Amino acid sequence: MKVTIVGAGAVGASCAEYIAIKNFASEVVLLDIKEGYAEGKAMDLMQCASLNGFDTKITGVTNDYSKTANSNICVITSGIPRKPGMTREELIGINAGIVKTVANNLIEHSPNTIMIVVSNPMDTMTYLVHKSTNLPKNRIIGMGGALDSARFKYRLAEALNAPISDIDGMVIGGHSDTGMVPLTSHATRNSVRVSEFLSEERLNQVKEDTKVGGATLTKLLGTSAWYAPGAAVSGLVQAIACDQKKMFPCSTFLEGEYGLNDICIGVPVILGKDGIEKIVDVPLSDAEKNHLKSSAEGVTKTNGLLEL
Ligand code: 2OP
Repeated sequence: MKVTIVGAGAVGASCAEYIAIKNFASEVVLLDIKEGYAEGKAMDLMQCASLNGFDTKITGVTNDYSKTANSNICVITSGIPRKPGMTREELIGINAGIVKTVANNLIEHSPNTIMIVVSNPMDTMTYLVHKSTNLPKNRIIGMGGALDSARFKYRLAEALNAPISDIDGMVIGGHSDTGMVPLTSHATRNSVRVSEFLSEERLNQVKEDTKVGGATLTKLLGTSAWYAPGAAVSGLVQAIACDQKKMFPCSTFLEGEYGLNDICIGVPVILGKDGIEKIVDVPLSDAEKNHLKSSAEGVTKTNGLLEL
């Protein structure tokens, strides 16, 4: 199993680290355009192998896509991260050109790859890859919901004073500060709906804290987060690499599902060896349906800024 990660910045290197530690991939190629940067990150990570107990071979390359050839899975993290006060959507002007070029360079050497898009604005970048490459839609996956769901669970555990392992919950919709849809109607603490334990007011606060989870960290860190994004990507990569048939919220191209068309946005999917193997139709409350609809309107508006 060969995985290529483009972008050896904090998110890309965290992806590589978590994938290696999980030890299911034979090879991870880390590619960056900055001379020697990916090579250095790969070497530093490989010097953790004996300490963290993995056999995955991590190599770094500077802008040489021939070294990514025949990758089973490719992850695009390249582009600029946001600064405090910026929205993800403001990154489109710079990141769209980068993502389009990177995606086509990867496919040239790995035509059968499954592509995971992380660069922001992620839903629109996923849509761009769908529109500017010949990959089938099941092999184009946008990573946002897995990260947002992790933040949702973090906030629920905080509100319930419960261990994270007791919590389950999912966030669908756009990966944006206003467009996320935390599914509070389905969230549980050990199979019991969280609404049995938390007031509507406290649940609304959990939803709001979840939606700005990325912006909260960007304000604290001065740049976008990287540990949780990297861990979220590694979960998707593992589900595909190990054919786990796990359900994640992922950004995928919709053709009528959830009443939406010609858009990539976060919905529950089953991930396995063929990438997105099924889009799962989950019952939503009226409020959740309306929120998803307005979220889609926001993503479609951002898509309109693309020069396709
Ligand atoms: C985040 O929410 C980078 O969009 C990513 O942290």
